[in-house]
Amino acid sequence: MEPIVLVHGGAGDIPDCNVEAKIVGVKKSAKIGYEVLKNGGSVLDAVEAAVKSMEDDEAFNAGFGSVLNLDGEVEMDASIMLGETLMSGGVTIVRDIEHPISLARLVMEKTPHFTLAGAGANKFATEQGVPTVPPGSLVTKSAQQALDQFKKTGYVRTEIGEKNTGEVGTVGAVAIDSQGRLAAGTSTGGLNGKMVGRSSDTSVIGSGTYADDDLGAVSTTGHGETIARFCLAHTIIKSMESGRNAEQATHESLCKMKARLNNSAGAITLSKTGEVGIGFNSNRMAWAYQKGDEIHFGIDPNEKHVEKV
Ligand code: GLY
Repeated sequence: MEPIVLVHGGAGDIPDCNVEAKIVGVKKSAKIGYEVLKNGGSVLDAVEAAVKSMEDDEAFNAGFGSVLNLDGEVEMDASIMLGETLMSGGVTIVRDIEHPISLARLVMEKTPHFTLAGAGANKFATEQGVPTVPPGSLVTKSAQQALDQFKKTGYVRTEIGEKNTGEVGTVGAVAIDSQGRLAAGTSTGGLNGKMVGRSSDTSVIGSGTYADDDLGAVSTTGHGETIARFCLAHTIIKSMESGRNAEQATHESLCKMKARLNNSAGAITLSKTGEVGIGFNSNRMAWAYQKGDEIHFGIDPNEKHVEKV
């Protein structure tokens, strides 16, 4: 089996001025994840490293650069899942943590639970020696401007600093190694102007994230309330179970969700045989994957570029 690390940088109405930064960021993330696999790391290590790279990057709505709640604070959600054991970990409404994806992994590996929320998740982080950053240090100028604009106009904004309405820009990664082991992870700052304490689909296994070595791995992005009601990640997995390939399962599930709930989203999928599925019915979604010495990437519908690494 050829190892693959596939990532997305969020579905939404991404304005032209943000396209370059998104593409640079997803390519970097896919390469980092792939290097981890190539150097003997596990699929969990690869997914975590790929997501961390986007959490550090202000071009994405996760970690540093997250959108803000109505009180002007960053509250983040993340989840991670290992396909071999179906073990998973999630955090929701966490504050002042640079890498929520790493905290989600610790929940999976060090607790008997699958999700920790709010103050409890932050307490757990402190107990585990996970560094917290000073309050407010994950807030960017663009995020602050987007919240100010939201309060004036009432639009829910996807891509911070712009006037577009629509979905948020969550990040995620899925990976398969040479043994066919799978993992998936997703991380978000949520919705700009969300209520304080709002929890998203991203921390919910089956909605934001799913991985099962017998079927495949999925990470989703888009309007969280819609994705959660449709259990989008698990719907794609079940579609592969009933015989659809990764691409069909991804596209058809997104279409069904749109038809039923009238909201768009995006998803990245790997099947248990390493087929790639990339789908979105938003205007754009940045994605990239590395396979061998090639990096594949795109952001517009039907756009696909391939470069030698
Ligand atoms: N899908 C991410 C969110 O709605 O916050």
